[in-house]
Amino acid sequence: MTTVQPHVHLDPGALAGQMAADVRAGLTSTPKTLPPKYFYDARGSELFDEITRLPEYYPTRTERSILDGHVDDIARLTSAETLVELGSGTSEKTRLLLRALTDAGTLRRFVPFDVDPVVLEEASVAVAEEFPGLELEPVVGDFERHLGELPRHPRRLLAFLGSTIGNLEPAARSTFLAEVRATLGEGDAFLLGTDLVKEPARLVAAYDDDQGVTAAFNKNVLAVLDRELGADFKSEAFEHRAVWDAEHEWIEMRLESIEAQRVHVAALDLDVSFAAGEQMRTEISAKFRREGIEGELAAAGLRLVHWWTDPADDFALSLSVPD
Ligand code: SAH
Ligand code: AVI
Repeated sequence: MTTVQPHVHLDPGALAGQMAADVRAGLTSTPKTLPPKYFYDARGSELFDEITRLPEYYPTRTERSILDGHVDDIARLTSAETLVELGSGTSEKTRLLLRALTDAGTLRRFVPFDVDPVVLEEASVAVAEEFPGLELEPVVGDFERHLGELPRHPRRLLAFLGSTIGNLEPAARSTFLAEVRATLGEGDAFLLGTDLVKEPARLVAAYDDDQGVTAAFNKNVLAVLDRELGADFKSEAFEHRAVWDAEHEWIEMRLESIEAQRVHVAALDLDVSFAAGEQMRTEISAKFRREGIEGELAAAGLRLVHWWTDPADDFALSLSVPD
């Protein structure tokens, strides 16, 4: 059986320490919040994978169709020797890029980078089997903290797909893009997937599906806190909510406390009270417009050189280079 040893920037001790600090800050602020990166334990990654196949969740299949139409252009334009993928998850769509870059004869190495070691290991094994001869350097890390430690090979294509950038708050997004710019050298490029602003009804449906998979994904963060921090959240005491914020142009996922309740978080020695109907924010998923993302890239020192969308303008892939 194929095994691939990941390089670990985020050992379980460091992750637990960071989680404790983030959760304390989030549960003691008003309104309460939790950072979305803690959705992704093995179960959360599985649920996300299920989300990508839901009829309401158009982003994954739309981005795949755009990639399908343009991977050869991307391969020709970048001649990438190393593909680095941030928040790589199952790397399912990425196979299209790996295939095109392999067929173009330039690709030597794939660096999938994710906070969840389980999904990373499974994806690395699957890629190793499908692309024999490709060097694999999986990295377990946090793309908000460890970008500076990415391996520095020449001609890197840094891919950040799925519109995961939309899960960062605006200030964190600009810090992240500045760090992306700092890690890129001459001859490198940045391939970014962004979900675009569209009718709110379609957006809300994509984050509140009929089968309740997104609700289970949202509530999974409570199971993570129960297991990792000895909390006593009961998932049946919360309801999933997905709300379009027209001012910020983002979807907010929230968990609403059905009744007045008190939750104890043993590892933090913290008691948290929830009022009946109180909502805790668990994720933002920002939606973009071309001029906005082009401006944010430019502010970070990245020049957008290509913009590809689907016929309905639902999703965009952009290619940028250091200015
Ligand atoms: N790129 C895939 C997966 C998107 S899901 C796609 O387009 O379908 C988001 C992925 O990012 C998950 O695999 C999750 O584990 C990872 N992730 C979330 N926050 C992260 C962080 N701060 N650092 C590294 N990976 C992160
Ligand atoms: C990973 N990320 C881009 C997804 C999104 O659409 O914001 C996470 C997700 N949340 C609910 N459904 C999917």
